[in-house]
Amino acid sequence: MLDHLTVVSHPLVQHKLTLMREKDTSTASFRKLLREISLLLAYEVTRELPMTTKRIETPIEPMDAPTIDGKKLALISILRAGNGLLDGILELIPAARVGFVGLYRDPETLQPVQYYCKLPDHLDERVSIVVDPMLATGNSSAAAITLLKQSGAKNIRFLCLLAAPEGIARMKEAHPDVPIVTAAVDSHLNDHGYIVPGLGDAGDRMFGTK
Ligand code: URA
Repeated sequence: MLDHLTVVSHPLVQHKLTLMREKDTSTASFRKLLREISLLLAYEVTRELPMTTKRIETPIEPMDAPTIDGKKLALISILRAGNGLLDGILELIPAARVGFVGLYRDPETLQPVQYYCKLPDHLDERVSIVVDPMLATGNSSAAAITLLKQSGAKNIRFLCLLAAPEGIARMKEAHPDVPIVTAAVDSHLNDHGYIVPGLGDAGDRMFGTK
């Protein structure tokens, strides 16, 4: 079982994250770094997947070789910023099933409002990895995970790039069974719900919008 919170302190992850935080990093560089960092984070979030063995034949002799057990993983992207992490992870796990949850934050209440939900089938038999680069208030992430659980998911992990202490606390309260993997835990949220020091609006930075 993964810990409730894993901070990936690997030097490559930390170096790339610093480049992503810099305000003058271009959209193209931000996207490239996000793709690279998502591969490294995917490596961590897929630790301790259930394993089995299968009989294969190497050119030398037969062996019982390790292989991931069970149905294909489900990757669930929280739109729209989750797609940046999703693309990189799919390079590593191309056979994964993919779902999307569309939630926006009401700018006044900071509460999540759902506008889209399309999930893979048989979630009760899959490990689901929910991806969203920024765990800020935690309201959207907690709401997305509630939707997943209502659709049968039992074994869920959450992957983000940056987390605020407020978001971690919210997730721990709402979904103590869901381990979080992140590259860093920042100081706090500002009055607009942005992570400080953070990297700004992840969606805007990866898609070049304002
Ligand atoms: N979403 C973002 O894109 N950035 C933040 O700092 C918080 C939420």
